[in-house]
Amino acid sequence: MKANIVTLSGDGVGPEVTKAAVAVLKAVAAHYGHEFTFAEHLLGGCAIDATGEPLPAATLTAAQAADAVLLGAVGGPKWSDPNARVRPEQGLLALRKALGVYANLRPLKVHAPLAALSPLKNEKLAGVDVLFVRELTGGMYFGARSRSAEVATDECKYTVGEIERVVRRAFELARGRRKHLTSVDKANVLDTSRLWRSTVNRIAADYPDVKVEHQLVDSMAMLLLTRPSSYDVVVTENLFGDILTDEAAAIAGSLGLLPSASLGEGRRGVYEPIHGSAPDIAGQCVANPTGAILSAVLLLRHSLGLETEAAAVEAAVERVLRDGPHTRDLGGSASTAKVCDAVLAAVAGSATAADMYADLANSCCG
Ligand code: IPM
Ligand code: MG
Repeated sequence: MKANIVTLSGDGVGPEVTKAAVAVLKAVAAHYGHEFTFAEHLLGGCAIDATGEPLPAATLTAAQAADAVLLGAVGGPKWSDPNARVRPEQGLLALRKALGVYANLRPLKVHAPLAALSPLKNEKLAGVDVLFVRELTGGMYFGARSRSAEVATDECKYTVGEIERVVRRAFELARGRRKHLTSVDKANVLDTSRLWRSTVNRIAADYPDVKVEHQLVDSMAMLLLTRPSSYDVVVTENLFGDILTDEAAAIAGSLGLLPSASLGEGRRGVYEPIHGSAPDIAGQCVANPTGAILSAVLLLRHSLGLETEAAAVEAAVERVLRDGPHTRDLGGSASTAKVCDAVLAAVAGSATAADMYADLANSCCG
C-alpha cells in the first residue's frame, strides 16, 4: 500500500528517536512491499527559530494532507522563558486541535524482562496491561486564560459532545479487550467531572457487555500504584490523563518505553512517544527509541490498518527488550542507533541504521 507520512521530529531527542522510527517503517515497507513516503516539517522550538511560529502554516497543511503524522518531541530550555510570546508546546496543542485528534491512546505494558526497573514490587507487575484513553483537545489546556500581576485563571470547559465522542471510543476499545472501562474524574468537586460522569453512565447503556467503574483522580493515582493489574481501559479528561500517564510510564520502568496514538474521526492520526524532548541527553544518540518505534507500530495499526506488520515490529521490539541491546535508561550502554539496528535486524534481516545518525549534529534541531 502507499502512504504519505509527515514527520515532525521537533526538538531535543525528537530527531534521534524519530529517525529510529522512520528506519523501522522503511524496513517494513521494503520487507512487505509497501510504498511509504516521508516529508519532514517544522514543529515546536525549531519552528520558532526558523519561522517565529511553533506551528507554521506549511506544517499544518502538510499534516492535514498526510495519511499519518509521526512526531518526536517539542520544547527545551532555550524556549522556556515564561514571558515569551510563543512556546513550542503551543505548536503541539494547536496541531492536535487543528487535526481534531481528540482521543489519545497510551498503552501501558510491563515488559517482564524489565520488571526490575519498575519502582513497584515485582508481584504487583504481573498482568499489567492498561490502555489509557486521554481526552486531548478540550478541558483546561484549551480554555480561556487570564493573567495579571496578582491573579491568573485557566478555564476548564467540556461539552457533552466532546465527552461523548472520546468515551464512546474508549467503550469500543474496551469491547475489543477485557471489557472493563474505568472512568476517572473529580466528580466530588468539579462540575465538568459531574457532566463527564453522567455522560459515561448514559453511554454505558449502549455497551451492556462492558463493566464500568468510576474512580476519583486522586484515588486513581494511588490505585495505579497499589493494584495496576486491575485496570483494562481507563478513560479520562485531558489534564488528568496527562498526569496519570506519566505515572504509568514510571511503572513501566522508563519514560522512554511508552508510545501514543492520537486519533480523530478518520484514519489519520498523530503518533508520538509520551516522553518529552529530554534536553539533558539530546544530540548524544543515547535516547531510548522504543517509545518512538512503538508509536510507529500504532501508526501501522491505526492509520494504515497493517496489523501483520504492526505485530511483527512489536514482536521485534519485545525481543530486543528481552535480549538487549539496551539504552542507558534500561541499565545498558547501547546507543539509539544500536537499539534501532537490533530492531531492524529482528524485523527485516540486516538493515543498518548507524549511517542515519551520522548527520545528527547538523539536524535542524540537533
Ligand atoms: C504530553 C505532553 C504535552 C501535554 C505537553 C508537551 C504540552 O506532556 O503529550 O503528555 O501535556 O499534552
Ligand atoms: Mg505529558
